Amino acid sequence: MAYETIITETHGKVGLITLNRPQALNALNSQILTELIAAVNAFGADAGIGAMVITGSEKAFAAGADIKEMQSISYADAYAQDFFVGWEELTRARKPIIAAVAGYALGGGCELAMMCDFIIAADTAKFGQPEITLGVIPGMGGSQRLTRFVGKSKAMDMCLTGRMMDAAEAERSGLVSRVVPASDLVEEALKAAAKIAAFSLPSVMMAKEAVNRAFETTLAEGLRFERRLFHSLFALDDQKEGMAAFAEKRKPNFTNR
Ligand code: HXC
Repeated sequence: MAYETIITETHGKVGLITLNRPQALNALNSQILTELIAAVNAFGADAGIGAMVITGSEKAFAAGADIKEMQSISYADAYAQDFFVGWEELTRARKPIIAAVAGYALGGGCELAMMCDFIIAADTAKFGQPEITLGVIPGMGGSQRLTRFVGKSKAMDMCLTGRMMDAAEAERSGLVSRVVPASDLVEEALKAAAKIAAFSLPSVMMAKEAVNRAFETTLAEGLRFERRLFHSLFALDDQKEGMAAFAEKRKPNFTNR
């Protein structure tokens, strides 16, 4: 598929997707949604890819859902189309996705970053849910995911005042996993993704599934789920290889089997 609003590249076993609507600060319109989902699904189906990175530009990861596209939508149409439900497909990706965020990650941009598995932020990153300033509220998970990441007090502050959080505050609050200099952002994210992609893919996918389960279930059920996944990994050649390599003081040669 030829993309117009994103750029895709492969770096070894890592798929890199760059949002590319610079004239609108990567505002998320329906075309970018379709293309992003297609690219994530294509990398998901590619046996040569073990992890992905989604990034934007230096100025903006994404400045939100496209306000100009949605401003005239009626309630009847929004409801009938279940407007924004399409973004949920991103969260069904089974390979890890890192969001590499520089500049603005606002509204849908912040929500897109939070749909990824973790966020690496440039020191220039600014996160916010400014929907309230437009007379609406977050519609792609902001009120739910942000609250789980940073807790009620900060999530309320962000959603009710529309203020932005800088990279240092985002790291302090648990929204992002690390902050790096802006000039190193994509390289650092690719490095982290390459590290993940070098591990056994089934164990990587199960680790992702297990952590995500923590958001959906009780501790007892989550622990049981984790243990069952853990047990199942002993059926794989890669468990034997990983542990044998440790005992033999050599690097493992994982085959994803
Ligand atoms: C459409 C957008 C846009 C957006 C920026 N642009 N954000 N277009 N949707 N979300 C466009 C501008 O209109 C402008 O186009 C160009 O990108 C450059 O933006 P400027 O405003 O000129 O840049 P700057 O002065 O540097 O300000 C950057 C900014 C500001 C602070 C990020 O653009 C901004 O406040 N954007 C909106 C942020 C926002 O409210 N996001 C939440 C969206 S709602 P032209 O053609 O004029 O050059 C959302 C909610 C989803 O995501 C759920 C709700 C139902």
